[in-house]
Amino acid sequence: MTFRARHLLGIEHLHPVEITTVLDLADSYVDLNRGARKHGDALAGLTQINMFFENSTRTQASFELAGKRLGADVMNMSMQASSIKKGETLIDTAMTLNAMHPDLLVVRHPQSGAVNLLAEKVNCAVLNAGDGRHEHPTQALLDALTIRRAKGRLHRLTVAICGDIAHSRVARSNILLLGKMESRIRLIGPPTLIPAGAQDWGVEVFDDMKAGLEGADVVMMLRLQKERMDGGFIPSEREYYHRFGLDAEKLAHAREDAIVMHPGPMNRGVEIDGTLADDINRSVIQEQVEMGVAVRMAAMDLLARNLVADNAAGVMA
Ligand code: NCD
Repeated sequence: MTFRARHLLGIEHLHPVEITTVLDLADSYVDLNRGARKHGDALAGLTQINMFFENSTRTQASFELAGKRLGADVMNMSMQASSIKKGETLIDTAMTLNAMHPDLLVVRHPQSGAVNLLAEKVNCAVLNAGDGRHEHPTQALLDALTIRRAKGRLHRLTVAICGDIAHSRVARSNILLLGKMESRIRLIGPPTLIPAGAQDWGVEVFDDMKAGLEGADVVMMLRLQKERMDGGFIPSEREYYHRFGLDAEKLAHAREDAIVMHPGPMNRGVEIDGTLADDINRSVIQEQVEMGVAVRMAAMDLLARNLVADNAAGVMA
């Protein structure tokens, strides 16, 4: 197995072989999670702290479950109630926690780059659970695992990523990962929600759903990130749904066996039709959630192996 990273801050610095290593190990954790007894011991004796400075349902729950299933002592910091509210800086909080000798720190933060900064200050392995509009690496890895299990491969697939690309860390991490694994990527959305310079990323850009979905193997829908918008990016939600919301009629332009994805939380009737989202013949949205636990188990397992090896080398040196 090849996985050299000390932290999981983004897809940007991962090698394709490292990505495959995470996905292969995650496949074995899917089997464990489907069994009656779901316990491994890869993180036994290690301490995992989850620090979420932004709301989260599935990411936080799945990191917690992943740590517990592998035997870690898991602590969820309530950041609403923490000293950050009293004016302590992110770095002060991190240094305080660092003094308690955690092994894995899982961090979500509204500012792009905050998690990288934090990783420079602490001794443990840091996992980025989403920083601003920058990266969300475990989401891209769980999406890749879902696609690989449905399609049997990641290369030479046509993947359409649709909607609010400009504000989405999910889109950014997916574009990086799918590009490294040699998929063809299409971005579809209104020009106001496509970042300037996207044409230079080795992707095709469309502002028409039907044209963009033509022949796609995978259709990945994104939530409108209203909390990151500071003005009118769309005329109205109704108009947006009409032009960019995924329904059966638009999906008919993709391949007959195309799968539909969404990272959640979903706005039914804004970016996706509710019935289509629940259609188990097309939608893999629940599989994405299942793969999320397995991928986070694999990522923390691999980081812990490197951490333990480093510590052992340090003790011997
Ligand atoms: C995403 C996020 O937080 O970036 N959600 C998630 O992690 N499941 C996408 C979103 O919030 O729209």
